[in-house]
Amino acid sequence: MAGGGHIIALMSWSDWYKVEQLPWPADWAALFGRAAPLVVEIGFGTGRFLIDLARRRPEVNVLGLEISIPAVRIAGRKVQRGGLPNVVLMQASAPAALQALCRPGSVAEVIINFPDPWPKKDQLGRRLIDDGFLCLLATRMAPDAPLDIATDVVSYAEQIAACLARSPHFASRLDAPYALDDPGRLPTKYELAGLREGRPPRYFQWRRNGTPATDPFPIPQEYAMPHVVLRLPADPAEIGRRFRPTVIEREAARIRFIDAYQSLRNGKLLIETYINEEPILQRLALEIRARPAGEIVIALAEVGFPRPTRGVHLAVGALVDWLREEFPSLVVVQSTLQEAHDDGAG
Ligand SMILES: C[S@@+](CC[C@H](N)C(=O)[O-])C[C@H]1O[C@@H](n2cnc3c(N)ncnc32)[C@H](O)[C@@H]1O
Repeated sequence: MAGGGHIIALMSWSDWYKVEQLPWPADWAALFGRAAPLVVEIGFGTGRFLIDLARRRPEVNVLGLEISIPAVRIAGRKVQRGGLPNVVLMQASAPAALQALCRPGSVAEVIINFPDPWPKKDQLGRRLIDDGFLCLLATRMAPDAPLDIATDVVSYAEQIAACLARSPHFASRLDAPYALDDPGRLPTKYELAGLREGRPPRYFQWRRNGTPATDPFPIPQEYAMPHVVLRLPADPAEIGRRFRPTVIEREAARIRFIDAYQSLRNGKLLIETYINEEPILQRLALEIRARPAGEIVIALAEVGFPRPTRGVHLAVGALVDWLREEFPSLVVVQSTLQEAHDDGAG
């Protein structure tokens, strides 16, 4: 494969894999072009450590998960220059990628180098590593899979040590919760800065033990494409005029209707919608269009890579409910929604 590194070989320069683009769960063997143990580095930053890892261990598939788009771009260029066919980079939040893309027990190793410290009291809840995240890792990691975490933030090290000690699913590979040095490793960019500035790292070297984990993190299910046909006394333009931004909580989904845009060409209305179904966050458009028979259709617009999750059905259901409040004579003629609004299909 020319260029090396799947981010470059399969995607354009400004593109990379995202959770919404891949099947849930992902077919890693197809994506890497071979079946091999899956080693995941979370928050690889500029990719210094990940690239060294992929070079030293050509026998493993290295999956890099990084939330920052500029970081993915920088690391992607390095992967291309390095010609590393055993690397796949994703622009993704780690919990979303692990839950949606990785089958239970499928991850052979996890590395987290210097997770964002969030040092202030009111930021502590934003830290990646907590009891819940370890529980997710426990479901996705294979028995005996190594878990390596490094941090130079003392309070975060204490938090990680406490969470690991509490977890029934992990055991230290050392005689202590962490080591103060790890001579074999290539220091990361952040690590080098910390060492220069007098912040010595703590290196956690743990492993998934053999204790089975119950799995409260199902791979998100996909539903039928939402498609609702309505009869109501309004056209898309009138619906757009009545639209107001709204936030709705339904089941475990937080739905935000942001704005409405009408096509100058064909009159279609697009409702910009954010759907947060932790850990999956989708920004998509719901489409409202008129049918020649005078009916109105609501569907998922083909903008980006929308996935018809439960949250999407709930969002379309919420739009139907809002339209019914605005136009009480509304009739649902046809619907593929799963229990997302009160009225059945007529
Ligand atoms: C302090 S930096 C460390 C970067 C690199 N590992 C190093 O040691 O130089 C933390 C990195 O984690 C990334 N990150 C933060 N939250 C993340 C998440 N939920 N999923 C994936 N990456 C994340 C950040 O974008 C950032 O690049």
